Amino acid sequence: MAEIHVVVLAAGKGTRMKSALPKVLHHVAGIPMIDYVLGALAPLGAATTTLVVGYMADMVRDALGHRPGLRFVVQEPQLGTGHALLQAEPVLAGRHGTLLLVAGDVPLLTAATLQQLICRHHQTKAAATVLTAHLDQPFGYGRIVRRDGGIAHIVEERDATPAEREIREVNAAVYAFDLDPLFPSVRSIASENAQREYYLPDLVGIYRRRGLPVETATVERADEIRGINSRAELAEVTCIVRQRKNQELMAAGVTIEDPAATYIDRDVEVGADTVIHPGVFLEGRTKIGAGCEIHAGVRIVDSELGDRVMVRNFCVITGARIAEGAVVGPFTHVRPESDIREGAHVGNFVELKKTTLGPGSKANHLTYLGDATVGERVNVGAGTITCNYDGERKHRTVIEDGAFIGSDTQLIAPVRVGRGAYVAAGSSITKDVPPGALAVARGKQKNKEGWVERKKRRS
Ligand code: UD1
Ligand code: CA
Repeated sequence: MAEIHVVVLAAGKGTRMKSALPKVLHHVAGIPMIDYVLGALAPLGAATTTLVVGYMADMVRDALGHRPGLRFVVQEPQLGTGHALLQAEPVLAGRHGTLLLVAGDVPLLTAATLQQLICRHHQTKAAATVLTAHLDQPFGYGRIVRRDGGIAHIVEERDATPAEREIREVNAAVYAFDLDPLFPSVRSIASENAQREYYLPDLVGIYRRRGLPVETATVERADEIRGINSRAELAEVTCIVRQRKNQELMAAGVTIEDPAATYIDRDVEVGADTVIHPGVFLEGRTKIGAGCEIHAGVRIVDSELGDRVMVRNFCVITGARIAEGAVVGPFTHVRPESDIREGAHVGNFVELKKTTLGPGSKANHLTYLGDATVGERVNVGAGTITCNYDGERKHRTVIEDGAFIGSDTQLIAPVRVGRGAYVAAGSSITKDVPPGALAVARGKQKNKEGWVERKKRRS
């Protein structure tokens, strides 16, 4: 088998996106679109993979730099897709075999389709094979102009005649090339077109004039080749990715009450028999266990939930762990590095940050726990606040197993409440409370008998 080399074009600004961010870094269901393309390419085991970057090249490189074996070449200025491919010549000089060229803005492309393209290319021994699709709405794509059945050339939307615009077979911007005749021909591409750019698709016409064989491979599922050029297309493709993700999860035993109103990122995992209500966002590297229930309006980012966790309505959970059987919400804010252990309960208007809440402990109402370590079976009363910040530094609060914190308590950190101790409601705790003690730290109550009557008589 001929060696396979890959070039991905990602130098364009994406003018139609009207964005400061390079187009290929725009997210589709939580992940940069270029990641999908690289993901589809990975199973091919290419000998080299080269990314052509240009517009904000450093930003693209930084976003992808961690991938082993990925090479970068810079296209500056960006004079079109033909000019972009030319920048990869130094990497490919002296190499033979097949070059697979893919645009960076086609995230729905699958590895299977790329395999088919390469297979067809090898079987027909063509010099170039173009991936095509039949679209009901071909607007914006390069059209495949055929003569006597074979592909004659590709014409871009802007340069097409009204008759050519009627053609529904389009160029996917994915090609297989025999490397040997490639670069000399790419160099002869001219820029005589509406955009004054060097169009890679012009290579097809050039090959035909030189008598080099050009073939096509057509995708069955036309959606796969959808390119993203505008925000509207970004939304459409994102919607397709989300639908697929939801289908996949439902097939694996997850109940999604209203798939059209559920937003789950590509890499999220959800266990069987979990029920997801509408308006839920599961993002990033989130993992949800089996038998959980996630109620409407919840957003969970980069967090891990064990089995049978109940998240009631309108919670925001980021970078946290919530163990088996815990109950959270409604209206709870769980911030990074929080760890809610087995069977713990966190209720309405409670915020946790860098806090461990031990097994079976409860903080059910109106509470802030920041930089705190709370043991097992602790009861945190309504309105408890850890005062963790002295204006300069953060300090920890430790509440040992079985302690009882009365309502409306301030725990002024650093401070420790010992095992089984009680803190009276309304206390401002500034000193450690020994195990088993009762701490009372509030003003004494005075009752002035008959005071109201006396006041009335005075006025
Ligand atoms: C391109 C094809 C069109 C095809 C369509 C499929 C050309 C001229 N046209 O059009 O036939 O139907 O894709 O989606 O190729 N890029 C560079 N350097 C440049 C210009 C572009 O690296 O100088 C990169 C872009 O970052 C992008 C890809 O090439 O990833 C495609 O460019 P884009 O401008 O989106 O081409 P289309 O107009 O969509
Ligand atoms: Ca495009």
